[in-house]
Amino acid sequence: MPRLAAKHPLPIRISHWLNVPVMAVMIWSGLLIYWAYDPYMIEIGGVVLFKFFPDWFYRTMDLESGLAEGMAFHFTFAWLLTLNGMFYVGYLVWSGEWRMLVPMRRSFREAWHVVLHDLKLRKEPPPPAKFNAAQRFAYTGVILKGAGTVITGLAIMKPTQLAWLTALLGGYQMARLWHFALMIGFCMFIVVHLAQVAKAGWNNFRAMIAGFEIVTPPKEKADAVGPPSR
Ligand code: HEM
Repeated sequence: MPRLAAKHPLPIRISHWLNVPVMAVMIWSGLLIYWAYDPYMIEIGGVVLFKFFPDWFYRTMDLESGLAEGMAFHFTFAWLLTLNGMFYVGYLVWSGEWRMLVPMRRSFREAWHVVLHDLKLRKEPPPPAKFNAAQRFAYTGVILKGAGTVITGLAIMKPTQLAWLTALLGGYQMARLWHFALMIGFCMFIVVHLAQVAKAGWNNFRAMIAGFEIVTPPKEKADAVGPPSR
């Protein structure tokens, strides 16, 4: 018979869902600040392939002339992001949940297995676990990206008071570039994360809200189908 199984503890769910509006405000306000000086582009042999960001992007997203507003929101929500991140990592360490999230030695091999399975090139599913190897890399990676964002952010917010940190990161321009690259990394994580959540389905999504998921033991699943037809 299907049964309820505990999956995500309450502190993890609270900090996870807090991340959604906080990250949205951080990305939006960061773009308001970036608009005021937007030098990054992908260029090969003097030919600009892509500029971060084209004018139509700023216009469509209503991101022009909002530097002061962007700074006010960015510097306020950055503290929420930092506190929430510290709470989340602190809880992972305290509760031992980190063991289910951090990649292990065999995760490299298993992550490849997950990719092949997702691409339908390998039938056998990856070993059952709270998080598969690919998720372990993605979730640990996003925690590291969060830490990197806070460190590079501090270096460009206080380049005089924290001159040693800014210098350690290769100077102001380099720290700003790292900060920007981490934001792009975050956006890529969010796109893939949402696609995987949609693919995994309702039971998996609901567990991040309610804390429990419905587990159907394989034998009972077969019983539910009924006797084989003749
Ligand atoms: C509307 C947006 C989002 C939705 C619907 C969503 C949904 C989910 C779900 C369903 C899980 C559980 C996955 C599983 O059990 O297999 C999960 C885990 C996770 N998500 Fe999200 N997520 C969202 C945004 C974010 C954002 C913005 C971040 C980080 C910046 C994030 C980081 C994580 C992490 C680190 C985990 C693992 C949590 C743990 O158990 O320790 N998510 N998410």
